[in-house]
Amino acid sequence: MKTNQPHLPSKAQRSEGVSRRDFMTTSAVVGAGLAVVPLSWASRADATAMVSRTAAIPKKRKLGLLEVSSQGLGCMSMVAGFYNPARPKADMVKLIRSAVDQGVTFFDTAEVYGPFTSEEYVGEALVPVRNKVVIASKFGFDFQDGRTTGRNGRPEYIKQAVEGSLKRLQTDHIDLYYLHRVDPNVPVEDVAGAVKELIQAGKVRHFGLSEAAPDTIRRAHAVQPLTALQSEYSLVERAVENEILATCEELGIGFVPWGPLHRAFLSGIFDENTRFTAPDRRASVPSFTPEALKANVALLAVIRDRAKQKGVTPAQFSLAWLQAQKPWIVPIPGTTNPQHLTENLGAEAVTFTPGELREIRTAIATIPLQGVRSPESVRKDQ
Ligand SMILES: NC(=O)c1ccc[n+]([C@@H]2O[C@H](COP(=O)([O-])OP(=O)(O)OC[C@H]3O[C@@H](n4cnc5c(N)ncnc54)[C@H](OP(=O)(O)O)[C@@H]3O)[C@@H](O)[C@H]2O)c1
Repeated sequence: MKTNQPHLPSKAQRSEGVSRRDFMTTSAVVGAGLAVVPLSWASRADATAMVSRTAAIPKKRKLGLLEVSSQGLGCMSMVAGFYNPARPKADMVKLIRSAVDQGVTFFDTAEVYGPFTSEEYVGEALVPVRNKVVIASKFGFDFQDGRTTGRNGRPEYIKQAVEGSLKRLQTDHIDLYYLHRVDPNVPVEDVAGAVKELIQAGKVRHFGLSEAAPDTIRRAHAVQPLTALQSEYSLVERAVENEILATCEELGIGFVPWGPLHRAFLSGIFDENTRFTAPDRRASVPSFTPEALKANVALLAVIRDRAKQKGVTPAQFSLAWLQAQKPWIVPIPGTTNPQHLTENLGAEAVTFTPGELREIRTAIATIPLQGVRSPESVRKDQ
């Protein structure tokens, strides 16, 4: 089973009480009626299928009562410690602004990304459009000399952390503030109470949790209603389909899948012979070991095939599949590449019939995957 370490730099690098049932009606079909614009960039040489790539203007979705574009942008790997070396700030500011120009209004960062630098990139990029976008950030770790030293959910820390994030984000409020990982030493009710006070003070607008178990979600929600849960979910990593999504649906909490491309695997750029070495974070992720890749490429083959039939890329197919699961699911693919950004937004134009969704389900259900979480793992905070 996969160990679910938060996405921290490795050591080596180291009030919504009203009806929340105003979600859009459930539909198996996404993307209908989208404005579709042709891409201006050339096809990637490593494309796995001959596809018509289209970028589409994202529609809106609701996480609880918070309206966001139906796809967000993950800003984690723009900084060092994840999949690539840190990208120049100026390039990432340009990329984030290009996402805004293409209709993205939902941006995901965290105190721990860098630490601190991802928030700086996001802050600088979004200052000119601050009131038109939703900024999500996260708290929950202690740092020493630029490295994390453990989880911290103590109310006094949260009140300090928010000030640092506000400063780096160059804003007076954070739209969605998540506890990044549950601190086993602090009751989640205390965390929820501290965020409630920040909401009352106008510094935070909405509360979220990440990688929390159903019981923790309920306990936090009883103190301060949750707007979103952010946990790993993709065609590869489907453990949250056990209990987690049902809990969110019951309580009217939106769901934000991180790792929606399974760290690029679902884009088809890797094969069973790809090897990862530190500092690439995938070197320590169980689903990227040589044995796991050998097993998991069978799933990729199915996705590639079906994407090809639809004339879209595997990445577009994979993101659209997530969006088709529930109308309150908003994936946040991470990218540092302008072409990937536009390609990913093309998922907006990909539709599935209910029959296709059933067929995909049947096709993937029988493929044994390695290095993924067990369904039971969701019963514990990760
Ligand atoms: N709550 C949590 O604990 C947690 C944990 C991890 C991440 N997150 C958040 O979730 C976001 C997304 O997760 P993630 O970045 O881990 O995984 P991801 O979105 O599944 O994958 C990101 C990787 O895919 C590549 N990629 C993206 N689009 C591509 C395309 N069209 N073709 C080929 N490669 C493509 C990116 O490389 P390029 O830069 O080359 O495009 C990057 O290496 C993060 O940015 C972060 O904001 C949250």
